[in-house]
Amino acid sequence: MKDILVYMKGSDSMKLLVVGSGGREHAIVWKLNQSPKVSEIYCAPGNAGIADVAQCVDIKATDIEELVKFAKDYSVDLTVVGMDDPLMMGIVDAFEKEGLRIFGPNRAAALIEGSKVFSKDLMKKYDIPSAAYEVFEDSVKALDYLKLCQYPIVLKADGLALGKGVLICQSFEEAKKGVQTIMIDKKFGEAGNRMVVEEFMIGPEVSMLAFCDGEHIIPMVSAQDHKRALDGNKGLNTGGMGTFSPSKYYTKEIHKQCKETIYQPTLNAMKAEGRPFSGILFFGLMLTENGPKVLEYNARFGDPEAQVVLPRLKNDLLEIIEAALEQKLHTIQLEWKEESAICVILASGGYPVAYTKGYEITGLNNQTDKEDVTIFHAGTTLKNGKTVTNGGRVLGITTLGQSIEDARQKAYQTVDTINFDKKQYRTDIGK
Ligand code: AMP
Ligand code: GLY
Repeated sequence: MKDILVYMKGSDSMKLLVVGSGGREHAIVWKLNQSPKVSEIYCAPGNAGIADVAQCVDIKATDIEELVKFAKDYSVDLTVVGMDDPLMMGIVDAFEKEGLRIFGPNRAAALIEGSKVFSKDLMKKYDIPSAAYEVFEDSVKALDYLKLCQYPIVLKADGLALGKGVLICQSFEEAKKGVQTIMIDKKFGEAGNRMVVEEFMIGPEVSMLAFCDGEHIIPMVSAQDHKRALDGNKGLNTGGMGTFSPSKYYTKEIHKQCKETIYQPTLNAMKAEGRPFSGILFFGLMLTENGPKVLEYNARFGDPEAQVVLPRLKNDLLEIIEAALEQKLHTIQLEWKEESAICVILASGGYPVAYTKGYEITGLNNQTDKEDVTIFHAGTTLKNGKTVTNGGRVLGITTLGQSIEDARQKAYQTVDTINFDKKQYRTDIGK
C-alpha cells in the first residue's frame, strides 16, 4: 500500500518526520500527506489513526538523540514538531547542529511558552496588551501581596504544567490554598519555583495560530476551544474537549487591532531579544472591553485547534513550511475554505483525572468515504489488529459545514456511530 502511495506521489519525493502522537499531529500528518511533494511521512511515535497515513516509528517525542539518529539514518528531508516538550528541550537546536532541516522554534524562542514569567516580562517591555501582573519567588511575599488584592485573581505556575498550572481564585482563602499547591507542595514540580499573580480579565476567548519565520508572521483563521470537561463549561480544565472555527467574536476590526498591537509586535519583540521565533505561534486571546489582550502564548499548533484550522486551509502546508524555513513567508498568500469546521473530542470516562485504557473502538470504518468528515486520532493504538483506546482524549470527530450549526449536526451524527466503553464527550461544542 505504502509503495503504491510513493509511486503515485510527485517527483520531489520528500521524506518527512512529524514528532508527536496526538490529534494535532494526526491533523498535521493528514494535511502534509496531501502535498504532491511528499513521498513518505514518518511519525514518532504516532498512533493508530496516524498509521493509516504515515509510518509510525517507535521513538518517544522527547528522545531527541534517537530522533536525530532516525532522521539521519532514514535521510529525512524535513522534520515538523507538533508538541511542546521536545521544543522546550531543544530538539530544533539538536537537529540544526547536525545540519538537519526542522520546523519549529529553537529552545531560546520556545521560552515564550515555557516560562510565563518570560512571556509576561516580554509583553510588558514591548507594550503588548496583557493582564497586569506581579512575579513571586517567595511564598510569604506572595501571600502578603495577595492579602491586598481584589478578587477574583489568577495564579500561574511559571513553567510548563500541562495547562493545569493556572488557578482562578475567588477569595484570599482560595489564593492561600493556591500558593500552597504551586509554591510549597510543588504540585506542578519545578514549574512552581516562580509564580505569576495576574489580574482577572473578562471576555470571550479566541485562539489564533500563526506561521512565523523569525521576521514575518502570517496569522491563520480564528478558533475557539472548550477547555472544561463537562457541558456548560463545568468540571475541570482539560487539554480541550472541542473546538470550532471561525469564532464569531473575532471580527475584521479585532483582527486589525491584533495585527497592530499583538502579532507583529510579538515577533519583533522576540527578534529584538535575540530569540527570533520560527514555527507556529499560538496566541490565546481574551477580547476584553478594553480591546484584545494576550492570555498566553504557545510555541506550537493548538490541540484541538489544529484539527479545525488545518482542514480549512487550501494551501499546501509543506510549501508554507518551506517558505518559512527560507524566511520568505511574506511571499505566501494563505487561502481558506469558506466553510466552518468543528471538532468534538471523544474522551475516556474520568479524563482529565483518572481513566482506563484498552477498550476496542467500533464504527471507525463507516466514515472513511465522507469527504467532510475526518476522524483525527488522539489516544489510540493497535492491539491484535484492533483499534483500542490509549489515552484521555481518544478521538476528534471533525467536520466541515456551511455554518457552525451545519458542521455541528454532522459531527454529532458521526459521534453516535463511533463507540467504545466509557466514551465521554461534551454535547455543546460550538453552541
Ligand atoms: P492559560 O494556560 O494561561 O491560557 O490559562 C488557562 C485558562 O485560564 C485560560 O484559557 C483562561 O480561561 C483562564 N485564564 C488565564 N489567565 C486569565 C486571566 N488573566 N483572566 C481570566 N482568565 C484567565
Ligand atoms: N487547546 C489549547 C492548547 O493546545 O494548548
